Amino acid sequence: MTALDVQHTRITVGAHLSRRQFIGSTASLSLCAIIPTGLLAASSATQRIVVRANAEIGVVRPEFHAHFAEHLGSCVYGGLWVGRKSSIPNIDGYRKQAVDYLRELGVPVLRWPGGCYADDYHWRDGIGPVEQRPKRVNIHWGGYIEDGSFGTHEFIGLCRLLGAEPYLAGNVGSGSPRELRDWIEYCNMPSGSTLAEERIRNGATDPFRVHYWGVGNENWGCGGWMRPEVYGTLYRQFSVYLREFGGTKPFLVASGPNGNDRKWTRGFMDTLDGGSPGGLSMHYYESGPDPATEFGADHMSQQLSTFKKVEDAVVEQRAILDGYRDGHKIGLILDEWGVWDKIPEEDEKRYGKLWMQSTMRSAVAAGLGLNIFNRQADKLFMCNIAQIVNVLQSLLLTDGPEGKSCIRTSTYHAFALFKPHRSKTAVRVETQDSSPLSVSVSASKSEKELVVSFVNPRHDADFEIDCTLQGSTAKEAKAQILHHPDWNACNTFENPNRLLPQTHTVALDGYRLRMDLPRLSVATVTISIA
Ligand code: AHR
Repeated sequence: MTALDVQHTRITVGAHLSRRQFIGSTASLSLCAIIPTGLLAASSATQRIVVRANAEIGVVRPEFHAHFAEHLGSCVYGGLWVGRKSSIPNIDGYRKQAVDYLRELGVPVLRWPGGCYADDYHWRDGIGPVEQRPKRVNIHWGGYIEDGSFGTHEFIGLCRLLGAEPYLAGNVGSGSPRELRDWIEYCNMPSGSTLAEERIRNGATDPFRVHYWGVGNENWGCGGWMRPEVYGTLYRQFSVYLREFGGTKPFLVASGPNGNDRKWTRGFMDTLDGGSPGGLSMHYYESGPDPATEFGADHMSQQLSTFKKVEDAVVEQRAILDGYRDGHKIGLILDEWGVWDKIPEEDEKRYGKLWMQSTMRSAVAAGLGLNIFNRQADKLFMCNIAQIVNVLQSLLLTDGPEGKSCIRTSTYHAFALFKPHRSKTAVRVETQDSSPLSVSVSASKSEKELVVSFVNPRHDADFEIDCTLQGSTAKEAKAQILHHPDWNACNTFENPNRLLPQTHTVALDGYRLRMDLPRLSVATVTISIA
């Protein structure tokens, strides 16, 4: 143990400061006790936390903040894509306000076209002259007719505009290995082959270089209602034909479990019997029985408690994969997650299928999820919240497909608060309480910065954070907080900035950081370190 370590294990216990004394205090504190770390005791209002800057977990991959856009309701049509002739301000058909907001946040990866839609989508329906594209019924999401005007080229164009890596979800449920193989060649082969030349004729001289390919989606459900052995057999067959073209090696993502379904993962891995996909996709929604803006306290607590199970699922699914030969090479991908509340019919009629508000509760949920990804950084490869615009726990909302308004949701702001973690190295934190609704914490560091995020999921308890920073010398700290005591509070078209991150007071005294963490809040502290 170094002198620094000894110094850092000293923190004051028992000296409870009043809330007023506590906030904004920069006076030096008496450091009089050494407590064994991990055995932290405190008053109920004080949450003692230790950040171990030297205990590295793994890189916070920007891909943990990835997104998902499905042909569902007004996510793609009317949300991201309004068409070139629209009176809604657009850049080449893409809704300008949405592009501006998403560029500001940064979208590392965008998954498309589904979801359930993926296994009923035939990519050739979305290429070539728009007037000649067939009109298809969206069987999963309301039976309306789509004109195919948003296809592969339009999706890649959006990714380029956002600076996002494209992630295409292929069709296994109603498609064939040949169809998916050809989509890869069409996208990635530079020139010379019939498919590459067709892409070039359709306006794209450069190959799309798509790296991420989903081999089906939820094949245990809407993707063909298969048994894991059946899907595993199909995966083996498909994977033989899904090849590298033009130097872009496809990273194949197999359809993984619904939540923590161990049977699915084992059944799939047993059938695979050697060989490994690049990733396995787990989907984990946190459902709730109330409409987003009318949540009852108990239902909110139940929903937020689910995140403990999500974290357990990440750990258990990782362990299952690691138990197989070459299983450790498979990236665990949570490519659909987020709260799924009861959706009022009138909202769907007005704004589109699965259109859902995002409230202070949703922001807390986002914070709980993003904290998990940091804490389990060594076990995860990518996480895509469902979905990016208008559908479920979205980042942006528009007032329907025709509406001109486009606002940032509370979830958008929660993601913005976690942006400073991207590409840093996650480090271990210790909290005094690990029950499902306790204060949730994660931390990451670079050479110059330590970033710590806190989430208070309680609607009935404010906390004082007393956080010891071990293994780094802190110089200056700044904090931002998103908070509202009303969990049903949200940004609306009339009041789009009701929930916005605010500067928050934080007191830094050497290696000790203290601040208020009010009920229902998400806060990030950025600390410059020597
Ligand atoms: O995100 C909505 C739907 O949820 C997706 O289409 C499907 O994959 C999941 O069941």
